[in-house]
Amino acid sequence: MEDLGPVSWPPAPISTERLVLRAPEARDRAAFVELLASPEVHVYLGGPRPEEELERELPGTPEPWPGSFVVELDGSMIGHVLLRRATGHRRPAATGKLDLGYLFLPRAWGAGYAAEACAAALGWLAEALPGEPVVLTTQSANAASMRLAAKLGFTEVERFEAWGSEQWLGLRSPDR
Ligand SMILES: CC(C)(COP(=O)(O)OP(=O)(O)OC[C@H]1O[C@@H](n2cnc3c(N)ncnc32)[C@H](O)[C@@H]1OP(=O)(O)O)[C@@H](O)C(=O)NCCC(=O)NCCS
Repeated sequence: MEDLGPVSWPPAPISTERLVLRAPEARDRAAFVELLASPEVHVYLGGPRPEEELERELPGTPEPWPGSFVVELDGSMIGHVLLRRATGHRRPAATGKLDLGYLFLPRAWGAGYAAEACAAALGWLAEALPGEPVVLTTQSANAASMRLAAKLGFTEVERFEAWGSEQWLGLRSPDR
């Protein structure tokens, strides 16, 4: 995965009805540790990382690259939305395209926050880099993620086996 390319970063914070999307800051570190160490969050992502390792290795400001959005609710981080260029994607249909990822803390699931935040990030992208399709890879067994992908307008390109399970590759066309 590589940076997005020629975008101005960070953008002004993006406000939605209930959330704010902004670049990561040092004050988000504890929430990043919680997110990356959560077994629940990583059921379909190959397992969590040990908390002690994260405490040791995460930089002061975690994930500060263009396309990395912290999602904030009432002043606290509840999730992370990632837009990256999938240069090394194992499927040719996705290689070089922009790739969407999302992780939310379990206490924030089931309220539509992920859908609201991802829609806002995709809206920002459509302005910042117009005309680009976006891909998304998720385990097909990850029902919440599959529902979210459909809500956001991704449609199936293919399914493939990787990392010991079936993966779903979706695409969202720029002129939808
Ligand atoms: C994938 C993930 C982000 C989905 O989160 P989520 O909270 O289920 O997703 P949504 O924001 O779409 O919210 C879903 C539910 O909120 C409810 N909801 C939607 N809008 C709402 C609103 N405005 N007010 C209240 N509730 C609402 C609905 O019940 C909806 O369920 P539905 O999908 O059956 O319609 C979350 O499960 C997660 O972080 N998983 C771990 C990381 C992961 O697996 N990522 C995928 C790999 S990239």
